[in-house]
Amino acid sequence: MPKNSNEIPINTVKILIKNIKQLVQVRGQTPPPLRGEQTNRLPVIENAWLLVDNEIIAGFGNMDRLPSVQADEIIDASGRLVMPAWVDSHTHLVFPASRYEEFTDKIRGLSYEQIAAKGGGILNSARKLRQTSEDELFESAKQRLALAKQYGTGAVEIKSGYGLSTEAELKMLRVIKRLKETENIPVKATFLGAHAVPENIKKEDYVQIIIREMLPEIAKEQLADYVDVFTEKGYFDAGDTEQILNAASQYGLKPKIHVNQFTSIGGIETAVKYQALSVDHLEVMTEEDFRLLENSGVIATALPGCSFFIDIPYAPVKKMIERNIIVALATDFNPGSAPSWNMNFIISLACIKQKLTPEQAINAATINAAYALELQNQSGIIRKGAPARLLVTVPLQHYGELPYYFGTNPVEKTIGF
Ligand code: NIG
Ligand code: FE
Repeated sequence: MPKNSNEIPINTVKILIKNIKQLVQVRGQTPPPLRGEQTNRLPVIENAWLLVDNEIIAGFGNMDRLPSVQADEIIDASGRLVMPAWVDSHTHLVFPASRYEEFTDKIRGLSYEQIAAKGGGILNSARKLRQTSEDELFESAKQRLALAKQYGTGAVEIKSGYGLSTEAELKMLRVIKRLKETENIPVKATFLGAHAVPENIKKEDYVQIIIREMLPEIAKEQLADYVDVFTEKGYFDAGDTEQILNAASQYGLKPKIHVNQFTSIGGIETAVKYQALSVDHLEVMTEEDFRLLENSGVIATALPGCSFFIDIPYAPVKKMIERNIIVALATDFNPGSAPSWNMNFIISLACIKQKLTPEQAINAATINAAYALELQNQSGIIRKGAPARLLVTVPLQHYGELPYYFGTNPVEKTIGF
């Protein structure tokens, strides 16, 4: 009974999903980030039901013990899997335009570095971004995110980094903020002013602009959750990274940084020192890099779509798991090195090219990826009381078929987003 007559009873909507072939990634409570042996286990209930009440997972179990509930909607998931939505913890999905012209250069044999050296690459996107309005950027990003959601992405991180001036970086971050406010999935914003050194300015001066101009303004407008640096030869070295992470820490921005894509130049050491949430890319790893990560809680995020697209080595994630490093997977969706929003393809690549088992790949793209965005309490697992952002797949026999049918979209229906 309402306490007083003015109180309007909340009308909760109950959705019952029944006859689920496999309910995947079911956990009694949020586990710690999965490492080593733990990554081999993907808990499943066969022939299951699940109840969503007011957008929250209210219960689940085996069809033998289906409780009697008055549901507003009943979904018959016969022959289908139900699972938590993917968490894409590394994207650059706000960008002005594709770079399909560079794609042709790449096919003709130019490398990522050679394309950048002739005026392409990140600076190409930055030039175009300055001529694109905030509204245009918002609309195109919204469309890309809509596609990602159709492919099962139910939480996402988005970076700035195609602005490279205070004004343009703020413009990008305001676009991400608008997405945060208007989307029905969690969106995290990462400030990546240190993505490349803009034209006609010395690197040292640009680093000072990042520290003295950009960071204070971003903090004032609360435009970022995290800070990122492209720590790489020809971009920013470990010393620059240290200065930026140190300045960002004063505003409470945790690092999630691009390291070891082409070379190992001390980025991991700096990231560990500043207690980064994640280090991302990791295609090139030294023994010292392994040692630093295995003794830390820093999440190693592999981006196999980038390795596939620009034809570089894949991050050695199998070995990382063997060495007890926490591994996550993400798309790196961006116009230069990974133009795909498809997390399903990412887990296929992780299995086919990086030799993860389906259990390991799915864990890396759900619960461990949720940790990489501090969303472990609301994304990445099926748990009673968690927000219901779920995928119902096309007919499949087993979750092992998710990476197996590569390049497809196995998502038939999304629930809760
Ligand atoms: O993660 N490597 C740095 N940044 C992006 C690529 C950005 C671009 O080429 O536009 C990446 O691969
Ligand atoms: Fe990236």
